[in-house]
Amino acid sequence: MKILAIETSCDETAAAVVEDGRKVLSNIVATQIPEHIKYGGVVPEIASRSHCENIVSVVTAAMRKAAVDFENIDAIAVTAYPGLIGALLVGVNYAKGLSISTALPLVPVHHLRAHVASNYISNLDVKPPFLALIVSGGHTHLCKVSDYTSFEILGRTRDDAAGEALDKAARAMGLAYPGGANLDKLAVDGDDMAYTFPHPRVDGAPLDFSFSGLKTSVVNLLHNSSQKGETLDNKDLGASYIKAIVDSLIKNTALALDESGLDTLVVAGGVAANSVLRKRLEKLGKEKNIKVYIPELRYCGDNAAMVGSQGYYEFLSGNIAGLDLNAKATMDI
Ligand code: KG4
Ligand code: ZN
Repeated sequence: MKILAIETSCDETAAAVVEDGRKVLSNIVATQIPEHIKYGGVVPEIASRSHCENIVSVVTAAMRKAAVDFENIDAIAVTAYPGLIGALLVGVNYAKGLSISTALPLVPVHHLRAHVASNYISNLDVKPPFLALIVSGGHTHLCKVSDYTSFEILGRTRDDAAGEALDKAARAMGLAYPGGANLDKLAVDGDDMAYTFPHPRVDGAPLDFSFSGLKTSVVNLLHNSSQKGETLDNKDLGASYIKAIVDSLIKNTALALDESGLDTLVVAGGVAANSVLRKRLEKLGKEKNIKVYIPELRYCGDNAAMVGSQGYYEFLSGNIAGLDLNAKATMDI
C-alpha cells in the first residue's frame, strides 16, 4: 500500500511517498530556516505563507521522485495536530483538496506519533511494545507504546520542552536559529563539568520533567556576567547545560524502563539528533541490557516520511477522516 504524506506543522514543508509504512520511495523537505533566521526563531505568519508557496512543488517533487501518479497511491496522510495552527491548516487543506479530487481516503496523523514512526523506517525490526522518549521543540514525553496507535503518557514536561530549553539558551548565548543544533556543534569539545546546574525534580511525579528553571539559570548566569563585564566560555557553558538536560532525560527514562519492565527504548523528535543524548542513550542500553533505537539523523527533524509511516498504521486501525477534518494546535498523543 502506497501513501502520499504531507507535513506542515512548523517550519518545514515536506511530502513523501511511503510503501507499507516502512519503505520510503521519496522524501522531500523544503526547510524555511533562511526565512526565519533573521528573527531568531520561527515566525508563524511567515511559516504559513511559505508553506502556501512551497506545498505544490514539494508534493509534485515527492510524487515524481517516487515515480508514481495518483492511480498508484492508496491514501493521503497529513499531519493534523499538534503544531502551529496556520501552518497545519495549509497541509490539512491541501490534503483535503487532493482527497476530494482523487477520491482517496484521508488519514489524519498526530505529529508526535509520526516522530516515533521515524524509527520504523530507520530500523525495520522496531515493533511495539516499547518505551518512547519523545524530545521535540514543543514536547517532552515518556510514553508506553503498546501498539502502533496506542500511546500512554507516563511522564511529560511540566513547563518547557527540552528542545525549547536548548533553543532559548542558545539564543541567549548569541547563537543563530536553529539554536539546539548550533549549540550541539559549539559544545562538542566543551568541558561539561565547568558549570553546575540544578537537577530539576517534580515532587510526587518522578517521571515528569521541568526545564524552565535550568533555562532561567543559564540566562541569569549570562546576564550577570555581562553586567560585570566578564565573558563566559560558551563552549563549556553549552556543554554543561546540555549535560544537565541530558542527565534529566536519562534519569527519568531509566526509571520508566525499570517501572514499566519494557525492554525496548525508542527515541524520537528533533532533540534525538543531539550527539550527547545519542551517546548517553547507547550507554544506557548497554547498562540495562535493552534495545535502544534512535532514528537516522535525516529522520530526527520534521519530515513527511515519518507521517507516511504512521499514516499506514493509522489507516490499518481505521483512522480515516471525513472532509470535516480540522487542524488543531494542541492534541494529546
Ligand atoms: O521535532 P522537531 O524537528 O520539531 C518539533 O516538532 O518541535 O524538533 C525541533 C527541536 C528544536 O528545539 C531544535 O533545536 C532541536 O529539535 N534540535 C536539536 C538538535 N537538532 C535539532 N537539539 C539538540 N541537538 C541537536 N543536534
Ligand atoms: Zn517535530
